[in-house]
Amino acid sequence: TRDSPLPTHDSQLMNTSPEIESRVESLLARMTLAEKIGQTVQVFVEEGNRAQMVERIRTGGVGSVLNIHGVRNINALQKVAVEESRLGIPLLVGTDVIHGYRTIFPIPLAESCAWDPELAAETARIAAEEATANALFWTFAPMVDITRDPRWGRIAEGAGEDPYLGSVLAAARVRGFQSELSNGHRMTACPKHLAAYGWAEAGKDYNTADLSERTLRDVVLPPFKAAVEAGAGTMMSAFNEINGVPATACPLTLRKILREEWNFQGVVVSDWASIEELLVHGVAEDLREAARRAFLAGTDMDMTADAYHRHLADLIEAGEIPERLLDESVRRILRLKFQLGLFEKPYADPEAAEAAILKPEYLQTAHTAAVKSMVLLKNQGDLLPIDPAKIRRIALIGPLADDHHEILGSWYGIGRDEDSISILEALRAALPEGVELTYTQGCDIDGQRPTNTISAVTAAQKADLVIMALGEAESMSGEAHSRAHLGLPGKQQFLLEAVHATGTPVVVVLVTGRPLVIPWMAENIPAILCAWQGGVRTGTAVADILLGVENPSGKLTASWPRAEGQIPVYYAHKNTGRPPEGRGGFQFDQYFHSHFLDEDHTPLFPFGFGLSYTRFDYSDLQVLTPKVGLDAALKVSVKITNRGERPGEEIAQLYVRDLVGEVTRPVKELKNFRKVALQPGERVTVTFEVPVQSLGFHGLDLRYKVEPGKFKVWVGPSSAEGLEGEFEVV
Ligand code: NOJ
Repeated sequence: TRDSPLPTHDSQLMNTSPEIESRVESLLARMTLAEKIGQTVQVFVEEGNRAQMVERIRTGGVGSVLNIHGVRNINALQKVAVEESRLGIPLLVGTDVIHGYRTIFPIPLAESCAWDPELAAETARIAAEEATANALFWTFAPMVDITRDPRWGRIAEGAGEDPYLGSVLAAARVRGFQSELSNGHRMTACPKHLAAYGWAEAGKDYNTADLSERTLRDVVLPPFKAAVEAGAGTMMSAFNEINGVPATACPLTLRKILREEWNFQGVVVSDWASIEELLVHGVAEDLREAARRAFLAGTDMDMTADAYHRHLADLIEAGEIPERLLDESVRRILRLKFQLGLFEKPYADPEAAEAAILKPEYLQTAHTAAVKSMVLLKNQGDLLPIDPAKIRRIALIGPLADDHHEILGSWYGIGRDEDSISILEALRAALPEGVELTYTQGCDIDGQRPTNTISAVTAAQKADLVIMALGEAESMSGEAHSRAHLGLPGKQQFLLEAVHATGTPVVVVLVTGRPLVIPWMAENIPAILCAWQGGVRTGTAVADILLGVENPSGKLTASWPRAEGQIPVYYAHKNTGRPPEGRGGFQFDQYFHSHFLDEDHTPLFPFGFGLSYTRFDYSDLQVLTPKVGLDAALKVSVKITNRGERPGEEIAQLYVRDLVGEVTRPVKELKNFRKVALQPGERVTVTFEVPVQSLGFHGLDLRYKVEPGKFKVWVGPSSAEGLEGEFEVV
């Protein structure tokens, strides 16, 4: 029996000490009101305002700067704060290091499909190594927003639809960013966006989030809590409103839940100008009122709105904000600066910066991460992996085949196209001699330029196998990049159908930042590999998987709809009083149930789904604790056998259903998973342990509770399959 429990949260990362506390207090005692307010101000320094901002830094009016790059540039600003301001308090420089600093890893949605917290922690650690060597000690990551809407462009940045997996990965990413680094610097993480940013109506970015407090607490908040428990030093509020209250001025999420219930000691920063946007939301008449509401709700730092800079002093003098509240915010900010060691080591060494990026071992991890992120969606007749003994001529077709840029994904920051390897380059290098590879672009991504269908079709006719690299541009997902149509953009579907009509077998490699709606492809194309935007080593990972050097093991973390009209489609839905399969025995079951007249109710590819080149069998599910106490752990074991001819990794998933509750419960909820590596013929017994305390929900009174009663449990390869058992909480 193998039993490697998932890593536990480590809340010790950003510990304080009596020494730090006394340094904070003695500094605070020496600060003027203006200097205190300065610490709560975060500014964007650009060409047009540079001189003015430098002067503000010099006079102690700035605590933080964001989104600047270049170690010399950052050091220069830091020098003004440290050597020229009265108290010499270093700046906290923050930036979006989302999935790699210079070594760009798969987008977070992709990486989540590896279901591998150690991998997530490792890519975050490498990003922190590179970024801190370049004087960046604060990343605005991880984004831990749960979403059930692939139209939302920022689905690319998160871990998908599930609160349990989302929590495990949120904690792992925080641990990774905040881990001890080889260069002696330290980075702090900023889980975001508190809260319900992924609940945007219709998936339109920044849109209204209207959801019950129960769903907020049961589904949306767990990853934030996990990030707090992992020791996150900061937290970012969201742009959106939650049930009528903009998140940046939301006392429920920022004060009651984050501070009082979770005891978060770190710094809360607003999102970009989101304090000013309280006016646009229509909850504040002017910037002064916006500053008051945001500050009293619990936002410590103002990202770029200049609201605190302009109005906090007046609000305090007028008695509308107690100065002790400001002191608390300033303490938190100073404490973080001490914890990060900024007073001792405010600069990064410009001589060492260049050598700290793109190290060979980082690129190797980028390759591994890309391999583990990719999801094999279909492989009819074992078309993959490619057998070079049979396949002598391959036509590589499509707008993403020789791409170096789109594979980086949104938020690639300072990542560069020239660091990446395209699918074409990687295949060329990997194919054995004697296998001929031709390349035809066929069309562009978005249909702006004319297609060259004839040359693509001709190439396909001459080949034994076609590989088509299709999908999205990096700019089609990410912030403010939502889409209403989730099929292949531009003329790609047309090209695909034309190439398919040649009769040559087609493998599609999807490069995408979100789940796509591809029913025709799923029906007609024999093999589909979702490669995502896999970062700088997308190409080599695709080549290794297509050629069978690597066996794909990723599993989806967000459901893929059959049609946009199904959205939101997600596995942990409620049963309703009239479920789609009928409620049983009801005379009108056939008509009066929750379904579509013109589409199936199930997703095209469910949460947790992904194929392998080998076959895993599940057998002998045993519930070792058929009756289990409230403070005990549910124990379930299952045997998994590799019945195929290749070694492979399987992600076994455990789901439960609470059959009766005082409020309705989802039909399935992921509660644990385990990744096992098995040789051909090898069998392993996996024992899952699930604390019964994690089987609860927020009840009628909105308090978290676990109710005694009957549950079902499944262990299997996805949310749609698995062996079933039952147990009772007593
Ligand atoms: C706005 C985005 O919503 C947020 O995620 C990001 O960290 C900030 N801009 C800073 O770039």
